[in-house]
Amino acid sequence: MDYKNALITGGAGFIGGHIAHRLVDAGRNVKALDNLSVGRKENLPDSAELIVGDIRDTEILKSAFENVDVVFHLAAKVSIRLAIEEFHDDADINLIGTLNVLKAARDAGVKKFIYASSMAIYGNPDYSPQDENHPQRPTSPYGVSKLASERYISILAPLWGIDFINLRLFNTYGPRQTPSPYVGVITIFIRNILSGEQVKIFGDGKQKRDFIYVGDVARAFDLAASSDVSGITLNIGTGIPTDVNTIADILINRLDRNVKPVNTPPVAGEPGDSLADISLAQSMIGFSAKYGIEEKIDEAIEWNRVASDI
Ligand SMILES: NC(=O)c1ccc[n+]([C@@H]2O[C@H](COP(=O)([O-])OP(=O)(O)OC[C@H]3O[C@@H](n4cnc5c(N)ncnc54)[C@H](O)[C@@H]3O)[C@@H](O)[C@H]2O)c1
Repeated sequence: MDYKNALITGGAGFIGGHIAHRLVDAGRNVKALDNLSVGRKENLPDSAELIVGDIRDTEILKSAFENVDVVFHLAAKVSIRLAIEEFHDDADINLIGTLNVLKAARDAGVKKFIYASSMAIYGNPDYSPQDENHPQRPTSPYGVSKLASERYISILAPLWGIDFINLRLFNTYGPRQTPSPYVGVITIFIRNILSGEQVKIFGDGKQKRDFIYVGDVARAFDLAASSDVSGITLNIGTGIPTDVNTIADILINRLDRNVKPVNTPPVAGEPGDSLADISLAQSMIGFSAKYGIEEKIDEAIEWNRVASDI
């Protein structure tokens, strides 16, 4: 589908900023709506317009949606773990906020809606890799609000004549991920190692994750928006498993520090193994990840080294 004008909610965040750069480089007009609770203006390219506002504010949404062909909805409170305590905020932003964005898209006559869902909707695996039909039993309210959002979009968007694709993102890493104790194990470990803090591995560290480079994720959003496909939900990962112990080892080696990680009890909400079957994304929108962890982890290290000034 050809289009010119994009709105990215959460556009000043980690993944949203990378999508914005990619779209601007392709000659598209980009607006970002972000309340800057986590995001930063510097994550956006200069030519993108930043509207500082909240997806719970329907007036702001109305003006943000003027002259928009495609919306990329990424604004969210992003934490599997934190959502257990802050379940009300999670539902308010991640579900009700999504419904606000969807309604604003309808009222503005938007052509396509691309939603950032999450592998957290699957919960503990019955089998691995997980395809899109894998049973969906989220272990955290975050997964519940993401799954509910997907379902609302899947029902309402077609009724309103809006094309849509839900993208279930797996663990995304790379430069510009906002440091937080709750999100992004790679960024957390890099910061811990650089600053000499303890590297804490929840559980035995044998839980497998599908780590995908943020540039690949941004390309998946671009492909989803440009394709003529609609009405589907796709996994976006690499299909390559890496356990948390291995991530810690790789980082300790690359940073050349004498660090011994400690194992702490598993935390509530975090699922067991998580690995994407990406064959549907490949056949529907021509997506497959270009990069493995060994190729791109240095970019994340370098960015954190500079940004944290350690
Ligand atoms: N990072 C991952 O590994 C991962 C994995 C699966 C899914 N996702 C999803 O991808 C999306 C982007 O995640 P990210 O890693 O870039 O996180 P992020 O926190 O960097 O980006 C989210 C952005 O949304 C903004 N925001 C939060 N609440 C808002 C509100 N009420 N109104 C307006 N803006 C608001 C934040 O300021 C931030 O810039 C999220 O929807 C997340 O659930 C991320």
